[in-house]
Amino acid sequence: MTIISLPGSSGYLDASNNRKISYFSNPYVLGLTFVAGIGGLLFGYDTGVISGALLYIKDDFPEVNQSSFLQETIVSMALVGAMIGAAAGGWINDYFGRKKATLSADVVFLLGSVVMAAAPDPYVLILGRLLVGLGVGVASVTAPVYIAEASPSEIRGGLVSTNVLMITGGQFLSYLVNLAFTEVPGTWRWMLGVAGVPAAIQFVLMLFLPESPRWLYMKRDKSEAATVLAKIYDPYRLEEEIDQLATALEEERLRKQAVSYLDVFRKKEIRLAFFAGAGLQAFQQFTGINTVMYYSPTIVQMAGFKSNQLALLLSLIVALMNAMGTVVGIYLIDHFGRKKLALTSLSGVIVSLILLAVAFFLESSTSGNVGAYGWIAVIGLALYIAFFAPGMGPVPWTVNSEIYPESYRGMCGGMSATVNWISNLIVAQSFLSLAEAVGTGVTFLILAGIAVMAFVFVAVFVPETKGLSFEEMEKIWKEKAWGNGSGKEPLLESRS
Ligand code: BGC
Repeated sequence: MTIISLPGSSGYLDASNNRKISYFSNPYVLGLTFVAGIGGLLFGYDTGVISGALLYIKDDFPEVNQSSFLQETIVSMALVGAMIGAAAGGWINDYFGRKKATLSADVVFLLGSVVMAAAPDPYVLILGRLLVGLGVGVASVTAPVYIAEASPSEIRGGLVSTNVLMITGGQFLSYLVNLAFTEVPGTWRWMLGVAGVPAAIQFVLMLFLPESPRWLYMKRDKSEAATVLAKIYDPYRLEEEIDQLATALEEERLRKQAVSYLDVFRKKEIRLAFFAGAGLQAFQQFTGINTVMYYSPTIVQMAGFKSNQLALLLSLIVALMNAMGTVVGIYLIDHFGRKKLALTSLSGVIVSLILLAVAFFLESSTSGNVGAYGWIAVIGLALYIAFFAPGMGPVPWTVNSEIYPESYRGMCGGMSATVNWISNLIVAQSFLSLAEAVGTGVTFLILAGIAVMAFVFVAVFVPETKGLSFEEMEKIWKEKAWGNGSGKEPLLESRS
């Protein structure tokens, strides 16, 4: 017998369509999502603001102005912090819970903001960057998992993607700040320090929010978990949700001795899930989103537009399109499904990258005046964002918040977020030198080749998880690992 009759729908919800919850119909979960999403805002603002702030930091510290190593270190130290934060954050999440993980991320972030704002020299500034990076790293694992665990399965994708909207919104905000601030002494201290305010706000609001019900059920108090779930579901559905949770977690409790990092590679079903999750995170970065986010003004200038003002304005438009595209993703991810959305997104990304490559090939063969070719590059850039933002932006974060069994969710989510941050650093550090070495056209062609690989990867290794309960998802991995003979109902045949 198959539990699931309609591909991509939730088995037990099919029987009770009228109990489905819509995105706006539950203010409690939506509020919780926005408070948790402040972590995403810090992520976006912090990674976006530094390019602008650096201009003013160079004015204040001559040694930074003279050393590109110091400049690179100031920029990338936050990424290094985020890698460490994401790896440690996974463990903090599983051991102390999602709430304490968020609170600790806020404290470290706030401390980092104060250190940066008050930095008397570049070295203290670098320490501040490391601290905010640690906070962002912990938040990048915690927010999606916390939101996913409080979400009804039918709107889980949209709610987790709301955190990605906060990331892209934070980037847009930081670009606005970069554009609006003038060269007043001390400006960069405000630009970097002000991010402490949302962190402080999140800390206070989090004190009033509950721990994740799933984590509570597994690790602490079942009745406390039920109280939290009762705020999310009506009484009938509440019973079903608790039943599902109880069966699955009891099974997990019986099966498990101690959970260890090695299990991720030793246990076949966890290994397969982690491969899909970490692969998605790596491909999100290696298809080049942050070359566009960090270097769009440079790309626009490479395409022949020499005005700084125009380049900055176009990059602001790119950031705005990215945020608006994420809103489209929030809608599509629970209607269209994760896998279809990622595949459609990648198809458009491949075409846009080829268009960008062609524009740069043609541009380099002309005298350098901006003709039609520069505009082809701008159109390529816009198309790239239009396709990336609704799909490959939110899908990796969403899938990673939902595919792992409860006792591995923090650990595996943290490890794959670390893969995301490492890949981010590699791409951000190598784009300009690669473009210099082999040419911008070839660089975009390489990214297009990677996007083709990403398409094949998603088609083969990523199952559709739209609307599935966490328990149904566990069965998918068992079935992938051990076949239908694992004694469980076959879920895969009807979905991938
Ligand atoms: C990525 C970030 C990226 C952002 C921009 C996120 O999903 O993880 O690295 O800067 O999207 O769209």
